[in-house]
Amino acid sequence: MTERRPLIAGNWKMNCLRADGLALASSLAAKASEKGELGCDVLVCPPATLLSEVAGVTKDSAVAVGGQDCHAAISGAHTGDLAAPMLADIGAQYVLVGHSERRADHGESSTDIRKKATSAHDAGLIAVVCVGETEEERDLGATLSVVNGQVAVSLPDGATAQNTVVAYEPVWAIGTGRTASVQEVAEVHAAIRAELVARFEDGDQFRILYGGSVKPSNAAELLGVEDVDGALVGGASLKVDDFWKIIEACA
Ligand code: PGA
Repeated sequence: MTERRPLIAGNWKMNCLRADGLALASSLAAKASEKGELGCDVLVCPPATLLSEVAGVTKDSAVAVGGQDCHAAISGAHTGDLAAPMLADIGAQYVLVGHSERRADHGESSTDIRKKATSAHDAGLIAVVCVGETEEERDLGATLSVVNGQVAVSLPDGATAQNTVVAYEPVWAIGTGRTASVQEVAEVHAAIRAELVARFEDGDQFRILYGGSVKPSNAAELLGVEDVDGALVGGASLKVDDFWKIIEACA
């Protein structure tokens, strides 16, 4: 029997000035400590400006901290970028790589993402590798080939269930209020699972998150789908009560 502990991850994106971000992180840490045993792992990915302080605020709580991206190199002349060892250095345990907004805004390819994931692993971080089809690709019936292609190329050979989480986020469902149906989510997660099992010895242990307009009202249903091992949450992770309800949907 495969036991995968769910992960609920908040992606703050380019939101939160210092006061709001620190208030959000401390309320979350306080709620987690008050509750004691949680039914899932909890992660927040603040903007780079707040990483260090949020890591400080959440240090003794069940809330882990992650970066939203890292560079493939460990140091060097890359203005504006962050290296994986820098994230590890300030207490981050995770890093998102290959979010569709980075694939779109910064032209990141799955090959780039594989290098970033490798760098994350080398720094001791857990890479949350994001994949997902656009609306056009779904309409063309190419969803599974696109997603499986992204998984195949974005995950390095050294990926394990311990150092890698896959996040399936249909691009058309991100920030739009539209959520994939339970059937659509089940189909894609099953395909990702099959690909992981075929390639990695511990492929049945990898956590596969769903992301795209997850909110308190749909979290329980989505988290109940076979092979959905948590959620990557954008908008709803900025409101402590909403994010907390999603965390509680795992219990
Ligand atoms: P959303 O974002 O929950 O606001 O749709 C999800 C994500 O992009 O990670």
